[in-house]
Amino acid sequence: MTQIWDAGIEPLLVDAGDVMGNRTRKQKDQTDFLLEQTATFGYDAIGLGERDLNYGYDYLREVMEEHGLPFTSANVRFADTGELILPEYRIIERSGIRFGVFSVMDPGQKIISMAANDREYTVADPLVTVRELVPRLREQCDTVVLLSHLGDRGTERLVRDVQGVDVAVVGHTFRSYNREKIVADTVLLSAVYDGRVIGRSDVNINREDGRVMSVQVQVTSLDDSVDDDPTMLAATEDFLRRVEEERLAQRAAFPRDLGDESETFLGIHNCKACHTGVYNQWRKTDHSRAYTALRAANMQTEPECLVCHTTGYRHHNGFDEEHNTSMTQVQCEACHGYGTQHNRDGRMNEMARESCTTCHDNAKRPCFDETEDTPFDYATYWEKIAH
Ligand code: HEC
Ligand code: HEC
Ligand code: HEC
Ligand code: HEC
Repeated sequence: MTQIWDAGIEPLLVDAGDVMGNRTRKQKDQTDFLLEQTATFGYDAIGLGERDLNYGYDYLREVMEEHGLPFTSANVRFADTGELILPEYRIIERSGIRFGVFSVMDPGQKIISMAANDREYTVADPLVTVRELVPRLREQCDTVVLLSHLGDRGTERLVRDVQGVDVAVVGHTFRSYNREKIVADTVLLSAVYDGRVIGRSDVNINREDGRVMSVQVQVTSLDDSVDDDPTMLAATEDFLRRVEEERLAQRAAFPRDLGDESETFLGIHNCKACHTGVYNQWRKTDHSRAYTALRAANMQTEPECLVCHTTGYRHHNGFDEEHNTSMTQVQCEACHGYGTQHNRDGRMNEMARESCTTCHDNAKRPCFDETEDTPFDYATYWEKIAH
């Protein structure tokens, strides 16, 4: 087994931010689980990334209190009061050395919250913030550690322009630094991302002035060579089981009870062979991108979306996440019905005319936005997709 920590040495454990997931309900559930587990590692400080406000300020406060997660930020403030939203810095003592740990993010990184009525924020210039804070911090500690949510280049630029940052842990990057990297007297560390790797650095510090004398870096991939912790493995399996149960429960809200088991959807490529002109026209409409739009929103596994953004989700032999994945998008048969009924009773056009409002029903649409979407009107809508 790969050894990451030495027994008997208590590390200073930090993260440079963006620990939360995307702005979807599913990712929020996953974030709940991951943060609960992350808390068991005993972090000393976590910098604030823009993603960490994806679920709003109240959620951030809630997880901090519930799990004791030590988020910190020196340059994010409430727009209305001007107050910092988090502790400005944290002082942590290890092996008799006092570390002053703080974090800044880049004002260019957009904070977008999915919480209704979230607070508004302002992000101050990192350079101005760091220049002002470092001298104050040095009075109270030996060694200054910046959790720099500025990416590689932003961090390098910053440490060239300010003095007194001993160590900068880089966040908002996809690059790990596998060996020592020193820029203008500041040691830069990075081990990213998605919890796939863990970084350890052994830092030799001068007890007189708190400055770093030497550093040794080790970045370890958390792959099969690292044994799973049995408690964490059990918790993860339990979580995945709950996710699957919830998915099945959600699917059950959209039972496959329409259509006929003896009929089959033939798929767009079948229709294309004879109706090439209609197919080419269809390709130009958003119906041909309806499932792709879910993917873009990372919602492609949500039954509550799939029901209108695929073909035959509630029909026998229609789209099915596991067994029939070819019926994505709003294909010909979403409107015209089973291909196996082709022209049998001459109802294909009539069925298509009646199909629209099963999906174009604003009352049933979680994606309805009244500022953007117009109420459905057959004539005007048909005109846009006519073939
Ligand atoms: C082997 C060729 C062929 C294939 C494959 C085919 N069609 Fe047709 N389709 C025809 C012909 C021929 C007609 C009758 C002539 C016409 O109206 O264009 C027709 C007519 C239609 C009509 C008009 C029906 C009416 O009552 O006026 C629709 C709708 C239709 N097809 C849809 C589909 C769909 C959807 C698929 C794929 C599941 C499909 N077709 C596959 C050849 C085909
Ligand atoms: C009841 C059917 C229905 C359900 C359920 C549904 N949609 Fe939609 N969706 C539509 C229709 C219809 C449109 C097109 C509306 C229009 O153009 O007038 C649309 C449009 C969209 C668009 C493109 C509109 C835009 O803003 O560009 C996206 C993205 C989208 N839906 C995502 C979702 C997601 C995510 C879910 C699940 C949370 C979902 N939809 C659930 C019917 C549905
Ligand atoms: C969004 C729903 C919808 C989709 C998707 C759709 N159609 Fe249609 N289609 C209709 C409607 C509605 C009509 C009938 C229009 C009318 O008769 O007023 C129609 C008419 C037709 C006709 C008969 C045209 C005529 O001149 O009589 C054919 C053929 C046809 N569609 C084939 C296809 C094929 C092939 C595809 C896929 C490439 C397709 N349709 C996709 C709704 C749809
Ligand atoms: C199976 C569900 C479903 C059915 C049935 C359906 N639509 Fe749609 N429609 C959608 C979705 C989903 C979108 C949005 C796709 C996107 O933007 O990603 C959409 C978008 C549209 C748009 C805007 C797209 C564009 O290209 O401008 C029009 C117009 C439209 N539909 C008309 C119709 C008409 C007319 C009918 C009936 C003949 C119909 N739809 C039937 C689901 C459906």
